[in-house]
Amino acid sequence: MSHNKVLRTPPEYPESELPAHVCKLQRPVALHKATQLAFLRFDKANLDEAQRFWTDFGLITVSRTQDMLVMRGTGSAPAVLMARKAKVPRYVGAAFTVPPDTDFDRLRRESGAQPLAANAVPGGARGVSLLDPDGNEVWLITDWGVVDPLPLRQPKHHHMNALGQSVRVNATVRTDIEPAAVGRLGHVVLQTTDFHTMADWYMRHLGLIPSDVQYLDDGAPFLTFFRLDLGDTPADHHTVVIAGGLEACYEHSAWEVTDMDALGQGQQVLRANGHEHMWGIGRHLLGSQLFDYWRDGDGLAFEHYTDGDLFTADREPHYGPFTTSALWAWGHDVPSSMFPAKTPAMLWRVVKLLRSGRVTLKRLMQMGKVVDTPARPWL
Ligand SMILES: [Fe+2]
Repeated sequence: MSHNKVLRTPPEYPESELPAHVCKLQRPVALHKATQLAFLRFDKANLDEAQRFWTDFGLITVSRTQDMLVMRGTGSAPAVLMARKAKVPRYVGAAFTVPPDTDFDRLRRESGAQPLAANAVPGGARGVSLLDPDGNEVWLITDWGVVDPLPLRQPKHHHMNALGQSVRVNATVRTDIEPAAVGRLGHVVLQTTDFHTMADWYMRHLGLIPSDVQYLDDGAPFLTFFRLDLGDTPADHHTVVIAGGLEACYEHSAWEVTDMDALGQGQQVLRANGHEHMWGIGRHLLGSQLFDYWRDGDGLAFEHYTDGDLFTADREPHYGPFTTSALWAWGHDVPSSMFPAKTPAMLWRVVKLLRSGRVTLKRLMQMGKVVDTPARPWL
């Protein structure tokens, strides 16, 4: 087999140079611009097990009661994750910081926002709770407190020898065997059966900018990597990803660690403690992060990453075809568990989607073709 046919980088087009059949992702006027992905919220049936996984993953416990677990990273955010004890484990939603002049009254009138109790947010904040079109809770908060960052070792990135650039002389590489210190929450990826409604809602309520848009064969946008609009301040390539699919669900979240050595040592610690590895280490294509994916006790995916792209607001959106090969530049094969399993339950879900008109047969076949085409057949 010749690998030349498949060893290629998928095409990318700036929005101003789109091929004729590709539709532009329409952007609504934003109500305000979110400034930070603050924390994620989960329900967990077994808080002890959840705490054990997240501790090995590199998060630090802020407080723990019978019913609630709050965790932070090493950064200045008072919390990056909250987990509540519940019968059914699930992803509950995300909290974002918004500017102090955000029109919360308008959000109550037009978007069904409910005020948050004063003590709802670790570190203190005021804000509202909304439901996105798929029913995920979204908290918009302002006047959030800060905490002192925790000490971190120096990044090894600064001391890497490259061909022709010898910066590390008479010095060895030794990294402590410890969980990868998570500095901050990077992004959350949500799957939906109604891409356009979800993408529109998130752009409108968070002021998100599309960084990379992936489209199906018919040219319709189907998955988008969104970043925060921080003006001239560099923002992560993506903070929210909305992905079309066969069910509405949490896909994964990603957490930034110190550097590549933290990624590697973190993997070693998680493996040694018996956690379920999912995918990595590799480098993503869209966003460029070095990644390593794990599953918690409930099968939810959590990504360690480092060395991601940063864009200012003026960088033009780029478009490319929806393919699995665009998921990663190099590394192990993408696990089949990232795609819908062809089970009776999934088939029944597809039948219901077809009946309700939320997906057409043509669309389904386009999605199927992508999923069934191995990106790197030699893996
Ligand atoms: Fe990710």
